[in-house]
Amino acid sequence: MARLVLGVGGGIAAFKSAHLASLLRKRGHRVRVILTPAAAQFVTPLTFESLTGEPVYGDLWDPPRYGDDGEILGEAHIHLARWGEAALVAPATADLLGQLASGQARDGLTTFLLAFGGPVLLAPAMHHRMWAHPAVQESVARLQRFGYRFLGPVAGSLASGEEGWGRMLEAQELADLFEDHLHGRDLQGKRVLVTAGPTQEPFDAVRHISNPSSGKMGYALAQAAFGRGAQVVLISGPTCLPDPYGVEVHRVQRAEEMYQEVARRFPEVDILVAAAAVADHRPKEFHEGKIRKEDLLFQLELEPNPDILKEMGRRKKKGQILIGFAAEWGMDEGSARKKLLEKRLDMVVLNDVSGPGEGFRADTNRAFLVTAQGVQELPLLSKRELAHRIFDAAKDLPGGGRPGGGR
Ligand code: CTP
Repeated sequence: MARLVLGVGGGIAAFKSAHLASLLRKRGHRVRVILTPAAAQFVTPLTFESLTGEPVYGDLWDPPRYGDDGEILGEAHIHLARWGEAALVAPATADLLGQLASGQARDGLTTFLLAFGGPVLLAPAMHHRMWAHPAVQESVARLQRFGYRFLGPVAGSLASGEEGWGRMLEAQELADLFEDHLHGRDLQGKRVLVTAGPTQEPFDAVRHISNPSSGKMGYALAQAAFGRGAQVVLISGPTCLPDPYGVEVHRVQRAEEMYQEVARRFPEVDILVAAAAVADHRPKEFHEGKIRKEDLLFQLELEPNPDILKEMGRRKKKGQILIGFAAEWGMDEGSARKKLLEKRLDMVVLNDVSGPGEGFRADTNRAFLVTAQGVQELPLLSKRELAHRIFDAAKDLPGGGRPGGGR
């Protein structure tokens, strides 16, 4: 669990930051909030103090205060810069971005940011015309050059009642992305391709063969890879999940379409993670329109779908890493090893879909990571946490990710 600093700028989106602080604390992190004087007009320090159980930092000129354990909180910005492991500024206003981009330190938050050496994420929120202003865009470009990472803004309804590009991400998304970022930037510069969800193999306009995959595991992998700095493309079968932030998403229906999308991109890819539950077979014939139910009592003739992962294994070049999944009813390491060899994989994530809270649709998963080097047994984990364990293990593979740079 980490010591996190949440900087809050003076915008109406500051109300979401109260929820964000609370979420991060519930996930076991220690969270200290630093408010600009303008932010304190929107949400009071007391709100954050109550939600985090930690001292709240404010104006540069506040008299020195003492923490629970007698620590001096005077010279607050320097103290906080030493204490924190990572920082997120939400909302980051136009004024704040401008100050930071030009190295100004007019209040506690900007002073802290200049003194802080750890990773900083910026979650802007402002009116869409302010965001589009060249001065703001220049600050953004400058800050990116300095190594700051931006989360949002996204398009949506704004406080002014207008629609536009300037809305801050929701607290839940920011909490997830902040946590993903804590795993470091070891995939910086890597291109990661992920398949996710089920495929649907139609035999008339309204019916198909499919499976109950929710796509959650693949989406978690895509989001985790983005958090670790990778350029990520997600090829997804039909799911109800929103596009993961920062990830290029292509939605397909049939295995054949997924195969085409993957095959096209594969030569440029460093890591392919195949988390999709691809239908092994498809109906041989497709009937235009809807078959009447009286006519449905026919034998459905099937033919095999391409095995996407196996085909990419065949095309694999030196340095490319292939990670596949094996869904087993009970733990069957032998069959995972067989897949590793037959599909020329670097890792098989073997998961038991027989137990409660495991496999399809669940938010958690219990898995074994099987590689040529050995087997790593993992406890029941959230799919987000499992995604990170998979990338952690991928680092140790021959040709795996090397630690990247950046803040
Ligand atoms: N896979 C694929 N294309 C297919 C079938 C599977 O890319 N047509 C990938 C899946 O995304 C997964 C792995 O291959 O990563 C699963 O392999 P598979 O042989 O289908 O194993 P299981 O799903 O465990 O099923 P079984 O061995 O019982 O066939």
